[in-house]
Amino acid sequence: MPNTYLKIDHVSKTFPTPTGEFCALDNVDLAINQGEYISIIGHSGCGKSTVLNVVAGLLDPSEGGVILENREISGPGPDRAVVFQHHSLMPWLSVYENVALAVRRVFKGKKSKAEMHDWIVHNLTLVHMDHAMEKLPSEISGGMKQRVGIARALAMQPKVLLMDEPFGALDALTRSHMQESLMEIQTELNNTIIMITHDVDEAVLLSDKIIMMTNGPSATIGEVLEIDLPRPRNRVRLADNPTYNHYRQQVLSFLYERQRNPLDTKAKTEVSAETETPVETEKSVENRTPETAVTKSEPEKGDPQPPQDQPALKIVDRSGQAA
Ligand SMILES: Nc1ncnc2c1ncn2[C@@H]1O[C@H](COP(=O)(O)OP(=O)(O)OP(=O)(O)O)[C@@H](O)[C@H]1O
Ligand SMILES: [Mg+2]
Repeated sequence: MPNTYLKIDHVSKTFPTPTGEFCALDNVDLAINQGEYISIIGHSGCGKSTVLNVVAGLLDPSEGGVILENREISGPGPDRAVVFQHHSLMPWLSVYENVALAVRRVFKGKKSKAEMHDWIVHNLTLVHMDHAMEKLPSEISGGMKQRVGIARALAMQPKVLLMDEPFGALDALTRSHMQESLMEIQTELNNTIIMITHDVDEAVLLSDKIIMMTNGPSATIGEVLEIDLPRPRNRVRLADNPTYNHYRQQVLSFLYERQRNPLDTKAKTEVSAETETPVETEKSVENRTPETAVTKSEPEKGDPQPPQDQPALKIVDRSGQAA
């Protein structure tokens, strides 16, 4: 295979539970080229974060392994930076110091103090946050915090950028700004990116390939959709592009026809009542122009918890409205 840069090699993952072993992933196998933008999409609980955490080295696979540039990874490393759904900035450090912390860890002894300073400012400029370097996380908006998180990850100059629903907690307008910034950054830096998303439009707009996962337990890759749309991509122009809409349709059909949401078939009423939020059903998807993907997302164990004012349910659509 030409230019395989990152290989997720026949990865399976079981977790011990009080009622016995739980097989979350079964034989996930994927080859990724350098500079590719990969999205992983699938229903809540199918195992997306588990895949990402295995690549990050935060979880050991039960079988198989991850090979980056011909070397098997073991444990986390600065060659794989992670951006979580909810920012994980140190609240007592300024924007500048949050990025500086990561930069010092990676470049100590390799860059001079002045070079490190320039590098921190450069990365904050990339995400348009250089105007707020002295502010504390509590003094900036959610979207700005997420941009600092991305700057911090980029500043580590990782070989692979791993993002677990990086824009999930943002309103639709901020989310689209962030998507534009990320496309610009990727054009400039040619990063290899794996991003988890629940948003079909986001996946098609940003990706070279969309990895569609089957429902768990024993989840695996159901289909891989190659997105052959020229870059730079413009969301407004793509809205009327038949190829773009064909790709969206394929992802929606996978999610809502071939892999129905497990919440649709069992305990739908209980879940709806419990959460007091609408759960997407196949019917509701059919009955409206499906501009959106709607899913419930729980924070990962060990992730920073969402601030109370941020919804756990995301509804994102191309009309730029969040519900
Ligand atoms: N440490 C663990 N112990 C036991 N089961 C786990 C553990 N971590 C994850 N699981 C289970 O593995 C499955 C996959 O979880 P994972 O977090 O990867 O899903 P996900 O696709 O990221 O979901 P979401 O979209 O809601 O974030 C789930 O059934 C989850 O309950
Ligand atoms: Mg997850």
